[in-house]
Amino acid sequence: MLSPFPLGRPARMAVMASGRGTNLEALLEAFPPKNPWGEVVLVLSDNPEAYALRRASRRGVEAVAIPWRGRKAFEGEALGLLEARGVDLVLLAGFMRLLSPAFVEPWYGRLLNIHPSLLPAYPGLRVHARVLEAGERETGSTVHFVDQGMDTGPIVLQGRVPVLPGDTPETLERRVLFLEHRLYPRAVRLVLSGLAFPPGEGLKALLGEAWPRFQEFAPGEKPLYLRAVALLSAWGLGHLVPAALLGQGGDWVRGAFLAAHLLAEDHPALRQELSELSREVRLRAEDALRRVESPL
Ligand code: GRF
Repeated sequence: MLSPFPLGRPARMAVMASGRGTNLEALLEAFPPKNPWGEVVLVLSDNPEAYALRRASRRGVEAVAIPWRGRKAFEGEALGLLEARGVDLVLLAGFMRLLSPAFVEPWYGRLLNIHPSLLPAYPGLRVHARVLEAGERETGSTVHFVDQGMDTGPIVLQGRVPVLPGDTPETLERRVLFLEHRLYPRAVRLVLSGLAFPPGEGLKALLGEAWPRFQEFAPGEKPLYLRAVALLSAWGLGHLVPAALLGQGGDWVRGAFLAAHLLAEDHPALRQELSELSREVRLRAEDALRRVESPL
């Protein structure tokens, strides 16, 4: 098993937020009640004043504040609620506390975070100011699985925006937030489809001789390969995976990689190439794209 998803039923999601909650709002809009992907059934905050809680209540979603009285107390209560509500996937969206291994371990692979930089660059706080101070020409946002580090953990999806002359931390934040509101729902759909998952034993077994090669890829490159692997194995072509990772393959492998690219970002040249592949491959790839892109 590469991923615990797809579930074969709509997912029950929880969002954890400490502040204004614009990403929460985007998630609530992307996954409204009764849509086939699943719904947000619970919003948790460590901050009773968080505007995120009001956004949830306004839409009739259960909103719970667990005022911070130390990590252990908070996490114990939060874990209990997640279990009681039958949550399948937890989404951190501007949640400002570091979670301990006791929380992260049982949820590993089903716990996501969004961070406003191209991780592994610029983890932590004051991201936009640091990006400007360093004179970067590009920045972006990353959705990643949460592990025990701060803003570490396998990447699900990244999006990029330019840094423009005259930018301030505020203009940059605005541009990155606009991106995030589209990026997070797309990343969630990839996870719920089983097309994004943390590399584990199942992957190692499937990759065989190609496993060391996979480990050499940069953190930002791995998700593309994982999507291609997931597609090939969903198509019953897991035996092609080791060769594909080593750079070989015919039409099916090309179809999987074209779709893997297009699942992250549309690209007319790649769409064109996909349309030129054999009918069988094209239909499979287009079906995968349609499912993840389908506006609700
Ligand atoms: C976002 O930029 C997110 O990447 C970071 O915190 C910010 C939260 O903003 N983790 P909002 O509360 O969703 O508006």
